[in-house]
Amino acid sequence: MALHDDRKEYIKGSLDDRWLNADPMVQFAAWLEEYRATGVEDSTAFALSTVSSEGHPDARIVLLKELRGREMVFYTNYASKKGRDLAHDPSAHALFFWPSLERQIRIGGRVRRIPASESDAYFASRPLGSQWGAAASDQSQPIASRSEMEQRLAEVQRANPDGVVRPEHWGGFALAVDRIEFWQGRASRLHDRIQFHLSAAETWTAQRLQP
Ligand SMILES: Cc1cc2nc3c(=O)[nH]c(=O)nc-3n(C[C@H](O)[C@H](O)[C@H](O)COP(=O)(O)O)c2cc1C
Repeated sequence: MALHDDRKEYIKGSLDDRWLNADPMVQFAAWLEEYRATGVEDSTAFALSTVSSEGHPDARIVLLKELRGREMVFYTNYASKKGRDLAHDPSAHALFFWPSLERQIRIGGRVRRIPASESDAYFASRPLGSQWGAAASDQSQPIASRSEMEQRLAEVQRANPDGVVRPEHWGGFALAVDRIEFWQGRASRLHDRIQFHLSAAETWTAQRLQP
């Protein structure tokens, strides 16, 4: 069947005008809980977009590990491609797509590194295999072969059989949300969209957008 013959109606929810008075971070947390409750895998995954020093956009999936009020925390290698992009330009975008609920959430803001002590605590809480992997991988750098990668892992395992001290270049970023749009699919493509912006006075203003 041709791709353009794939058609569906979006009928699973709605955003009424009361949403215009909502706290968007409270709404986001509620939506996330609703999505997690469906039991879907990787329910906290989102596409993180960054911009390189040459001005090129790039996106990849990462996992949301904590919501702290207006901040969204994720973990990565600070020396990776995304880490280098964010060191150059802390503007970031997070995109969630939850097809089973017919929802999309678009989030913009700026990142900061979380304090090293917080990254230490999170790294220590990770399974041993994840610690070894993070220590063995210079994320985003080329490597000649799979076997060379496995050799590096084996060396890290041999040297750190009981756990790894967090590598300095691995840690958390907190994305401070300053705009967020909720999208709920509706019938006849008249989808609901409510967009929030944080004002200089740190209050949210909302507007409905045409689908
Ligand atoms: C489901 C899923 C979850 C992922 N979670 C993370 C994550 O939390 N942190 C991370 O650094 N990479 C994560 N990755 C890998 C990234 O998508 C990406 O390949 C890696 O971070 C390198 O990206 P970069 O070269 O743009 O820095 C995940 C990938 C998938 C598919």
